[in-house]
Amino acid sequence: MSKTRPEWSEEAIRHADDLLALRRDFHRHPELSHQERRTAEIIAERLHAAKLEVRTGVGGTGVVGVLHGDRPGRTVAWRADIDALPLTELLEAPFASGTPGVMHACGHDGHTAVGITLAEILAARRAELPGTAVFLFQPAEEVLGGARPMIEAGALENPHVEEIYGLHFTTQQRVGQVQVRPGPSMASADAFTVEVRGTGGHGAMPHLSIDPITAAANILLGMQSLVSREIPAQETAVLTVGQIVAGTKGNILPDRAVMRGTIRAFDAGVRDHLITRLGAFVSHVAQAYRAEAEMRLDGGSCPAVVNPAPESAFVRECASRELGDEAVTEGRVVMASDDMSLFLRERPGCYFRVGIGSASGAARPHHAPEFEMNEAGLPVGLRVGLAASWWKARRSRWATSTRSGAARWRGRSGPRAAARCSSRPTPAARPTRPASCGPRAMSSGDSTCW
Ligand code: NI
Repeated sequence: MSKTRPEWSEEAIRHADDLLALRRDFHRHPELSHQERRTAEIIAERLHAAKLEVRTGVGGTGVVGVLHGDRPGRTVAWRADIDALPLTELLEAPFASGTPGVMHACGHDGHTAVGITLAEILAARRAELPGTAVFLFQPAEEVLGGARPMIEAGALENPHVEEIYGLHFTTQQRVGQVQVRPGPSMASADAFTVEVRGTGGHGAMPHLSIDPITAAANILLGMQSLVSREIPAQETAVLTVGQIVAGTKGNILPDRAVMRGTIRAFDAGVRDHLITRLGAFVSHVAQAYRAEAEMRLDGGSCPAVVNPAPESAFVRECASRELGDEAVTEGRVVMASDDMSLFLRERPGCYFRVGIGSASGAARPHHAPEFEMNEAGLPVGLRVGLAASWWKARRSRWATSTRSGAARWRGRSGPRAAARCSSRPTPAARPTRPASCGPRAMSSGDSTCW
């Protein structure tokens, strides 16, 4: 990009020990969603020490740091999620979780450490820093409950953020590998509860009762037809019930059965259809069994992560220059979800993945007690973050010229952009249909985050 490009690998090496120590400290002290008080305190302390403007308690336990560079440029945000999961860690290490039943099993400790280190490095270069760097430390990603309150609390204003970037570590990629995927990248998520009501009674005399369990069972079996019969085959969606609660004893019919599940999709139209139809389906099937049922959305929800093409191309360029072309791929879409999508709906940007896979190739799945980060991936993420933050703030013309091409995925329209999957593109406007629009793009093994 320029002969004056700072050498981020040397900077990453200089900060490697501190980055590692920071990540291990957060790992040792994990905090559940909405309870990230210690984590937020440390973030705020470090940002204060680096002389950033700091706002705490943003949308709960969120922290915002603002770094004004001395040179003109754009206002670009970096987002890191900071919460942990309700799991008991299996890893035996001095820095293993010291909090029973709570564990950083998705790498958010690494995201937090990289975000702080990124802020500190850029702050030390304030005199030559173009534009304004905004750092958003977001709580409660694991319940998809942190981005929305931060946005509502004005995290993207004062100063007005123009673009937003961030990374998610993944154990499903080797260290040194980066995945930058334009278009839909992660699925939407909608948690739902189905409550079926009947009348209870003796199990030996079901004709005197209205059995909610039988109704629930038929609702459960039938609802999969919504995916297989009502969603176009080239689209992708998942409808999962992960919990059924009913009854107390084998010979007692309860008066109520409850099922909880999740809907995943990439296309906004598919998402809306499944939500609407599931509600009607549940009610009508229950009626067929003389019961009553209703579906409600009552847990975390967020749209699909959709990376606009220009900003994705920019990150890919940064990662390639920093790590080499062979280190960067598009990767596959994943059915997991992340409320970074809400930030990307507000502003253009890119959410990319950075490998932290084990050297031995052993599976260390996210959201599992055996999750383990290969820490050699930390400086890799830092380097790409540095390159993207630095160059994006400086190269506003680069962004403008790239956007002038017929960009398929533009900012401020995540769900609408995703909805374009379902339209029939003309070859001229759509030279390459995103692979994520079809099931062949799916990987059964990929899952990162919620
Ligand atoms: Ni995650």
